[in-house]
Amino acid sequence: MSTLLEIYETMSYGPAPESAAPAHEWLDAHSRRFGLYINGTWTEVANERLFDSINPANRSVLAQVTQASSDEVNAAVAAAKAAFPAWSQTSGHVRARYLYALARQIQKHSRRFAVLETLDNGKPIRETRDIDIPLVARHFYYHAGWAQLQESDLAGYEPLGVVGQIIPWNFPLLMLAWKIAPALAMGNTVVLKPAEWTSLTALAFAEICHEIGLPKGVVNIVTGDGKVGEQIVKHPDIAKIAFTGSTEVGKIIRSATAGSGKKLSLELGGKSPFIVFDNADLDSVVEGVVDAIWFNQGQVCCAGSRLLVQENIADKLIGKLRTRMEQLRIGDPLDKAIDIGAIVAPAQLQKIEQLVAEGESEGSIKWQPSWACPTDGYFYPPTLFTNVAPASTLAQVEIFGPVLVTMTFRTPDEAIAIANNTRFGLAASIWSEDINVALHAAARVKAGVVWINSTNLFDAAAGFGGYRESGYGREGGKEGLYEYLKKSEVKKLKTKASPAPAPIATPTSNGLPALDRTPKIYIGGKQARPDSGYSRIVVGINGETLGEVGDGSRKDIRNAVEVARSAASSWSAATAYNRAQVLYFLAENLGARAAEFAQRIRQQTGRNDADLEVETSIERLFTYAAWADKYDGAVHATPVRNATLAMVESLGVLGLVCPSEYPLLGTISLLAPAIALGNSAIIIPSPEHPLSATDLYQVLDTSDVPAGVVNIITGDRDSLAKVLAEHNDVDGLWYWGNAEGSAMVERSSIGNLKQTWVNYGEPREWLDRRVGEGEEFLRHASQIKNIWVPYGA
Ligand code: NAI
Repeated sequence: MSTLLEIYETMSYGPAPESAAPAHEWLDAHSRRFGLYINGTWTEVANERLFDSINPANRSVLAQVTQASSDEVNAAVAAAKAAFPAWSQTSGHVRARYLYALARQIQKHSRRFAVLETLDNGKPIRETRDIDIPLVARHFYYHAGWAQLQESDLAGYEPLGVVGQIIPWNFPLLMLAWKIAPALAMGNTVVLKPAEWTSLTALAFAEICHEIGLPKGVVNIVTGDGKVGEQIVKHPDIAKIAFTGSTEVGKIIRSATAGSGKKLSLELGGKSPFIVFDNADLDSVVEGVVDAIWFNQGQVCCAGSRLLVQENIADKLIGKLRTRMEQLRIGDPLDKAIDIGAIVAPAQLQKIEQLVAEGESEGSIKWQPSWACPTDGYFYPPTLFTNVAPASTLAQVEIFGPVLVTMTFRTPDEAIAIANNTRFGLAASIWSEDINVALHAAARVKAGVVWINSTNLFDAAAGFGGYRESGYGREGGKEGLYEYLKKSEVKKLKTKASPAPAPIATPTSNGLPALDRTPKIYIGGKQARPDSGYSRIVVGINGETLGEVGDGSRKDIRNAVEVARSAASSWSAATAYNRAQVLYFLAENLGARAAEFAQRIRQQTGRNDADLEVETSIERLFTYAAWADKYDGAVHATPVRNATLAMVESLGVLGLVCPSEYPLLGTISLLAPAIALGNSAIIIPSPEHPLSATDLYQVLDTSDVPAGVVNIITGDRDSLAKVLAEHNDVDGLWYWGNAEGSAMVERSSIGNLKQTWVNYGEPREWLDRRVGEGEEFLRHASQIKNIWVPYGA
C-alpha cells in the first residue's frame, strides 16, 4: 500500500481498463467464426478455410475468419454487378439516407467498434475511441452530403460500376470508411477486402449494412490474404481498384491492372519529414513528435518518421524528447491511460527489429527509454536514432513502427533538400513560430499533405494522398469523389463543313529545287538535330511526300526531360496571370497564321474541317488562358482549429502523346491545360501528321514561351512514349493512341509510379468542347496539396 506522499512523488497512473465485454459478446454471438458477407447474406463457414485473428496484445485467438475461395470472390463481384444498375440509378437523396443511416449506426455502436478494433489491432483504446471511430462516422456523414449534392454539383459525371477495394491493417475500419463512403455516395457498388490480420471490424460493419437494410449486393466483404486481393484486382467485371498498403504491393497492382481499362487509386507508403526550425515552440514540438511517430505505434503511412531539426537546437530538443519518452506508457491497449499499444503481428515486429538492427550496423545511434516492454504480446518500445546519414536505410526505408530517425540541417534550403530526398511524398509536418518560414517550406516540400505546427490531423473534408511513389489519387474532399466517377458519354457535335481541300502549292515557281525545310526536333526553345541522324518522311493524303521530320530517339527524350525539368520550377513559380498571357499570345500568333495551319491540316489529312480545327485550337488556348488564374484550390473548414488550404500544384514534367487525328487541335488540347497550370511538356506529335506540331516551333518562339517549357520530339510514337513512361524524372504521362500503347504506357510507368492518363484506343471528338476541354484536363495536369494551418480559436 502506497502512502499519499509516495503517490504524489511517483504520480503513476493506476490501471483504467475499458471493458472488453461488449466486443466479446458480439464475437460470441457469432460463435467466433465468420463467413463472408456476399449479396446481403453470410456465407456458410467452411472449416478448412478458416484462419485465426489474434489479439496482438496477449496473443489470444479472438475469432476465426475465412480465406475466401475464388468462387466466393466471383460471387461477390457478381452480386455487386447485379446491384449496380438499381443502386446507381437511385436518387442522390436516397443514397444520402443510407449513408446517414450508416453514420448513425456507427455512432450508436461506437464503443463496441472501438473495443473490437483495439482487441484486433492492438492500438490504444484512446485512439480507437477518440480518433478512429469518430472519423469513421464523420466520413459517412460527409459523403451523405455529397450524395445529396451529386445531381447539382457533379453533373456530367457518372459512377464507374463495381469497385474493388483492398485495405491495410493499420486503421482497419477507418480505411474501410475512406473507401466505401465515397464509392457508395457516387452510386458505385463495392467488393472490399480487409487486411488478413484485422478483419473483424469490417465484418461488424457488414452487419450494420444489413441492419439498416442496405440493398443486397451494394457492399460485399470478402476476407483473406493477398491471394484474395489478387483475384479482386484481376476480375474482369471490376471497373476500379482502390488500394491502400505498401508501395511494393501498389506496384504489383499497377502492373496487374495495366491495360485492363480499370481505374486505379493508390495510397502507399511514406517516410514523412517532421521539420523543426529553431524558432519553433519546442514544448509543442515534443508533443507533436509523440503524435507523429508514436500514434498507432508508428504504423501510420503518414507518420512523421524523419525528424529534421535545425542544428543549433538539436541537442536541446533531443534532451526534451528523451525525457518525454521516459514518461510514455506502453501496455494493455484497453487501458485508457496507455500511450503505446501492441504491434499488429509478429511479422511486423520482426520487420521493425530487423530494420533497427540494420540501422545500428550502419552506425546510427539508438536510444530507448529505460523501462521494459511487456512480454505477453507483441510490443516494441519507442525508439530514437541519432547520427543518421540521409542516404542510410533508416533514413530511406519505411519502418512502419515506433522508430524516429533524426537528422540535422543548417538552413531552410538544406531542410527542404533533405525532406525531399526520398522516393515518397505523402506528408510533412513543419514547425516554426514564424509563419513566413513555415509557409515557405510548405510550398516547397513534395508532399500531398502538410501540417503546420500540427501533425496527423485528418478530416473527411480535406483530401488525403501522396506525391511521387506514395501513390496517386486523393481520398476525402471533393477531389476524392472523382476517383469514383467518370465523365458521362456525350454525343458528337456535328462539325461545320469547310471548303474542299485546296490544291497543294508547289514549293518553287522558278524551276529550281525547293530549299529543304526539314523541321528538326524542338528542345529547350531551339531546333536540334535528332541524335539518330535519321529523318522520317511525312506523306500527304494523296500519298505525296509533304516533307520530312526528325526521327527522335531515347537520347533526345532524355535531353528533353532534362531541360523540361529545369524549366518546370520557374514556370510553375511564374504567376498564373503570366502563364495566361503567354497562352493568349500563343492564340494570337496562331491566329495570325491560321490560313497556313489550315492548309497544312488539309495537306496531311484531306479533311474539310481544317479551318474549324484551327479556329477551335485558338479558342482552346483562350479557354486555358482563362482557366490559368481561375482553377483555384479551396479552403476547407476542417475541425481542430485549422483552416486547410487545398492548393493546386503542377505535376512537374508531363509527357503528352498526341492523338493521330486532329494534328493541331489534338496537340493544343493536351498542351494548353498542361502549361496553363505550370507544367513543362514533352510532346510526341501525331505520328501520321506531325507537321502541324512542328509548324508550332515558330509560334512558340514568338509567343514568350520560356525555353524548355514546351519540347516537341517527332518520331515513332510508341517507342518514344515507352522511353517517357520508363523515365523516372517524368511525373505524368498522357497517351492518346491505341489500346496496346495504352497498356504499354501503364506497364512501363511502374518504376516511379508516375500518373498516367490513357485512352485505351477510344478516340475523342476534340472539336466538342464538352469532351475536348475542361476541368477533367486540368485535374490530370495537377495535384492537390492540403496544407493544414492553425486558424481561429
Ligand atoms: P500489404 O501492402 O502487403 O497489404 C495491404 C493489403 O493488400 C492487405 O489487404 C493484403 O492482403 C493485400 N495484398 C497483399 N498482396 C496483394 C496482392 N498481390 N494483390 C492484391 N492485394 C494484396 O501490406 P502488409 O504486408 O500488411 O505490410 C507490409 C508493409 O507495408 C508494412 O510494413 C508497411 O511498411 C507497409 N504498409 C503501408 C501501409 C500504408 O498505409 N501506407 C499500410 C500497411 C502496410
